[in-house]
Amino acid sequence: MKYILMHKNAETALLELNETTGWIQKIREVYAPMHLPIGVTVRKGVADRAALNTWWTDRTIPAYRIGMRDALEAFGAETPAVLSMRCHGLSLSDAYWIKAERSEMRWEDVNFFRRPFSDDVGDVLFGARKSDHPLDLVSPDNTTDGFLKKRWIVKEGKRYLMKGGSYPFFLQPFYEVVASEIMARLKLPHVPYTLIWSEGKPYSLCEDFLDENTELIPAWRVMMTQKKSNGTSVYQHFVNCCESLGIGNVTAFLDRMITLDYIIANEDRHFNNFGLLRNAETLAWLGMAPIYDSGSCLGYDKSPADIRLEKGIICKPFKNHHTEQLRLVQSFDWLDLSGLDGIEYAIKEILLQDTDGIGMDAERVNAVTRSVRRRIERLESFIRTRRTEVLSHGETSTVDDVEKNVAENYLRK
Ligand SMILES: Nc1ncnc2c1ncn2[C@@H]1O[C@H](COP(=O)(O)OP(=O)(O)O)[C@@H](O)[C@H]1O
Ligand SMILES: [Mg+2]
Repeated sequence: MKYILMHKNAETALLELNETTGWIQKIREVYAPMHLPIGVTVRKGVADRAALNTWWTDRTIPAYRIGMRDALEAFGAETPAVLSMRCHGLSLSDAYWIKAERSEMRWEDVNFFRRPFSDDVGDVLFGARKSDHPLDLVSPDNTTDGFLKKRWIVKEGKRYLMKGGSYPFFLQPFYEVVASEIMARLKLPHVPYTLIWSEGKPYSLCEDFLDENTELIPAWRVMMTQKKSNGTSVYQHFVNCCESLGIGNVTAFLDRMITLDYIIANEDRHFNNFGLLRNAETLAWLGMAPIYDSGSCLGYDKSPADIRLEKGIICKPFKNHHTEQLRLVQSFDWLDLSGLDGIEYAIKEILLQDTDGIGMDAERVNAVTRSVRRRIERLESFIRTRRTEVLSHGETSTVDDVEKNVAENYLRK
């Protein structure tokens, strides 16, 4: 069946979608190439269908999300992309959507930023019992990616993303809040997270930081706008891509994000976990998005003993080791670490909030607070040493680079 790919009310391309798989079979015509998703190229009037399919299937629930197989069965859908089709491909993170070729539908009639949406998809994803009424699939939950269990909820007219943790400890909701606290104290641009409990389980809650006119473009799409040459580091490639698009202040943002990730030992800052903001109507770039999705940190999947030994900490997206990544920071002039005085007490307070008897064990809490203090001290000494160091300390070395396709691999896992 034929659909028009819309960007708000801009008719972007005429597509043919397979009703069973939800995949794009054909791009019949491109109406507005400038509105195509970033990274989808047009050569001699022909848009790259594989690239558009990748974009389309990547803004669906990943098949590897826990419970997804059961959910697909409940929805009677063969693939997550079919679920996207059923909600017009609308999301709460950008302004893309699809409509049937002859449909008169307008953005104002359908977008989730203003229009209500169904709870059915979220209920099924959260394991609620199926009700006997037919499921209403019009929900932004269908187009929200990421591994963790999540759903969108509305409170007093505002949209919030409610996100759980992963086996075995379910700690990410707590750690999103810890990361928020650290970012607030360091005055970093960030999405604030709070902790809530539902049916005895912890969840993080953050408000939608986008709106009808402001959309999120993940960093890895921006990385696709240019071919990376072998001698260019992944870091430099990203900066180059941003510069070519006319996006300023990127290194200032990266300095802050890398520093935060060092302090919290973040293990999951892949290229889909940070991004840029763009005006969906004028297509003007608005700069880097506030920092979000920082909860897979502080040894979220490790034992207290391993946290103490700092064993097996993964680093993304630019280098394989946090210390190496820290070398990419151009300037620490903005950093006032006195903001983190007493952070241990704030962390304890966050980790020990326990409304349903699911407390965090004291050994873990101590391991985490000590690890944060140790990392802050090491950061201080790193900065001191660097100030007295000779210039050019191999900042752009590619030896320790994370492979450039790490985001893609992650998304397809
Ligand atoms: N506060 C938010 N407002 C709008 N979109 C968001 C917000 N937080 C996350 N998203 C979108 O939802 C996706 C999944 O959320 P994320 O927190 O990254 O989950 P996960 O931890 O499972 O990767 C993100 O890639 C982003 O596109
Ligand atoms: Mg994510």
